[in-house]
Amino acid sequence: MNLRRLDELRSPPVVGRRYLVPAVLHGMIVNIYGVWPVLLPAHADHEIGQPLRHYHVDPRFVSAMFWRWLEDLKTYTVPDGNGSVRECVAKSPYELLRHIVIEAKTVATLMPMKCEREGLQSLDGFGMLAKLWQIYGGRRCAVDKRSGGWICPHKGVSLSSVKPSECGLLTCPGHGLVISAHTGVVLSLADHDHCARTIDGID
Ligand code: FES
Repeated sequence: MNLRRLDELRSPPVVGRRYLVPAVLHGMIVNIYGVWPVLLPAHADHEIGQPLRHYHVDPRFVSAMFWRWLEDLKTYTVPDGNGSVRECVAKSPYELLRHIVIEAKTVATLMPMKCEREGLQSLDGFGMLAKLWQIYGGRRCAVDKRSGGWICPHKGVSLSSVKPSECGLLTCPGHGLVISAHTGVVLSLADHDHCARTIDGID
């Protein structure tokens, strides 16, 4: 059976179905090498002084078995960049799946994978989102030629398989920019606050 490519979908993937998913081979998460589904091309986050290139994981396609293992994990170690490691307290699987460390053998490809869950959480790591609001607020996304959906103007992640919120907003799973599903315009911080207040019934 021909599997559909995730980057050609015009709506979120269906839980339980298999797709051809962007993935990396021989990437490392919490000291485990494996085949990981990825959301973004390899990139660095210079906005927050992070020059190391890395991938973000697509949690929707992480296997149920590995997800359970992450839920039970209490601590894990990460390289500190000086040849040794430091111990960290494990939080939710979403936190643990933050970054894939790239090694010389890490290869990007497409892999058949099953959609295990809906959850896509954006990563507002290290105050990055506040900087991104200033740079990208008010900009309009380009259209993804492959899927017809919007492309986040930050690192080019396709938003076509992201589920819109009830008020029609897409939260980019890359670093959390919020975009109107209808117009493709990135909300400014003020728009976002107004929207949140409206949803909460304050305004
Ligand atoms: S890729 Fe960074 S916010 Fe969208």
